[in-house]
Amino acid sequence: MARDFSTVGVVGLGTMGAGIVEVFARNGIDVVAVEISEPALERGRVTLTGSTDRAVAKGKLAAADRDALHERVQFAVGLDALHSVDLVIEAVPEHLDLKQRIFAELDRVCRPETILATNTSSLSVTEISVATSRPNQVIGIHFFNPAPVMKLVEVVRTVVTSPEVVADVEALCARLGKVDVTINDRAGFIANALLFGYLNHAVGMFESHYATREDIDAAMKLGCGLPMGPLALMDLIGLDTAYEILDTMYRRGGRDRRHAPVPLLKQMVTAGLLGRKSGRGFYTYERPGSPKVVPDETTPLATDTALADGARAITKVGIVGSGTMATGIIEVFAKAGYEVVSVTRGVEKSATVCEAVKTSLNKGVVRGKLAEDDRDAALGRITWSATLDHLADVDLVVEAVIEELSVKKALFASLDEICKPGVVLATTTSSLPVIDVAMATQRPADVVGLHFFNPAPVMPLVEVVRTIRTSPETAATARAVCAALGKTGVVCGDRSGFIVNALLFPYLNDAVKMLEASYSTADDIDHAMKLGCGYPMGPFELLDVVGLDVSLAIQRELYLELREPGFAPAPLLEHLVTAGYLGRKTRRGFRDHSHR
Ligand SMILES: NC(=O)c1ccc[n+]([C@@H]2O[C@H](COP(=O)([O-])OP(=O)(O)OC[C@H]3O[C@@H](n4cnc5c(N)ncnc54)[C@H](O)[C@@H]3O)[C@@H](O)[C@H]2O)c1
Repeated sequence: MARDFSTVGVVGLGTMGAGIVEVFARNGIDVVAVEISEPALERGRVTLTGSTDRAVAKGKLAAADRDALHERVQFAVGLDALHSVDLVIEAVPEHLDLKQRIFAELDRVCRPETILATNTSSLSVTEISVATSRPNQVIGIHFFNPAPVMKLVEVVRTVVTSPEVVADVEALCARLGKVDVTINDRAGFIANALLFGYLNHAVGMFESHYATREDIDAAMKLGCGLPMGPLALMDLIGLDTAYEILDTMYRRGGRDRRHAPVPLLKQMVTAGLLGRKSGRGFYTYERPGSPKVVPDETTPLATDTALADGARAITKVGIVGSGTMATGIIEVFAKAGYEVVSVTRGVEKSATVCEAVKTSLNKGVVRGKLAEDDRDAALGRITWSATLDHLADVDLVVEAVIEELSVKKALFASLDEICKPGVVLATTTSSLPVIDVAMATQRPADVVGLHFFNPAPVMPLVEVVRTIRTSPETAATARAVCAALGKTGVVCGDRSGFIVNALLFPYLNDAVKMLEASYSTADDIDHAMKLGCGYPMGPFELLDVVGLDVSLAIQRELYLELREPGFAPAPLLEHLVTAGYLGRKTRRGFRDHSHR
């Protein structure tokens, strides 16, 4: 018969512990909440009250239920208060020696049958367990931040954890309304092993001034649909905790350089900039513990600085190409009121693109998102041409032809001859160096990358790529155009993958490596990232949608440019591509889509 957990203990009421207390108490379980000192206990109490009050204010919790929840929690200083609980979850800082000391003490204080659990993110549960005389009753119960919200729990069994204890804890997770994945004891388990390389990489981008904090975060939110950007997430996790997790993963996880904490992190921790909990991390918060970001000295000015930076006026735009991206971009510009000249390689192609744009605009009308008049006006603003000469008087050219450097370079050389001076020449390349294209012209200062996402009419993000030759006026013009299109333009340097792909694809590749190592299943990995980190799709779902061949090509480019050993494409990904399993488009990728 499953064990009855009527009272549990939580040790450490910081970012995670306070949330874990709330999860148990909300589900009718009595909690003994323990801290190291009275002030720390009071902080924990305030966090719990703040969180439950917010839930009441948002209508997610009835006031009476909140009061009942608080009645179930007993606060105490010191572990002795845990003498008669059925289960303890430890959530103290991520230091092995501290956790081992606490487990040795818990072993002494608690009843012999009590299960001792750790919420560690990266330390070895096995090493923690051997500090007790009951390693078979020690287990990892890894909640996600914020614990009351995130559905996932990783249940970590060691080689000695008894199967009954695993089963009891799994049943408990179900009672808490959580979805659990049960896995072996490995650094970072599933989610953090995939997440922290990405977070650390984003901090590195920020540290090297590759892009601003706002742009890095906006790129990942808008480009990948993540609930928050990586730097905001670091602030939520706590930079001290994140540092320790990275450091442990580096040491335990095969000394992958991508887990060696970026130096800036250590400096911020030393300076007391710990993220939300201290009121300041990558962002500044209203007060310690508050989720509300307030402006600080690096917040961009709300007023339109693009004009002040010398942005040029743009009224007429040339768009070269006839593929998916060109078609979407034509629609975007025409809808935003620009005069558009579409140039393809032939009248037939123009007719096809014109049909596609019409169909897409009609869909907008059917869905009630676009008035018929506006559709007609947008179509009326487009001129269809099959010769580049018609670009002689445009103010901006957006090139969206095939992803081949020789083709793009030849096109830019022609544009250089045809276009009037002062025109901004933009490429939508997603993987080629923009500087190569720029140097095919006599005016590299006027060349910029405008990386739209697919489908262009829907996706709110554009990466504005500045090369080392792009002039401030050109970049300012590109940003102003993005704003006029109703898109968020994020500015970044001219490196492989820009922001989004550089941060996204290594994570996807890591998921493939994890699958290849048989650590977990595609389903559990997808679950972990969706339910633990709020990703709209799991990595294998996304890979099948994007296409394995496309993903492999991007990953190869990243690896070739950055020479980062951890970016080497996963052999399994290469094999699937070789076998023709490219994802949904071939009805088979990581999953079989033939029956769907
Ligand atoms: N922050 C996250 O996003 C996150 C997510 C999942 C798991 N974790 C893990 O949860 C654990 C706690 O992390 P956190 O971010 O909540 O840390 P935190 O620094 O926010 O909180 C730790 C708390 O432990 C208390 N503490 C320290 N020594 C103690 C002792 N001897 N007895 C009782 N309490 C003591 C501290 O006073 C503090 O309140 C770590 O193992 C971490 O890896 C963190």
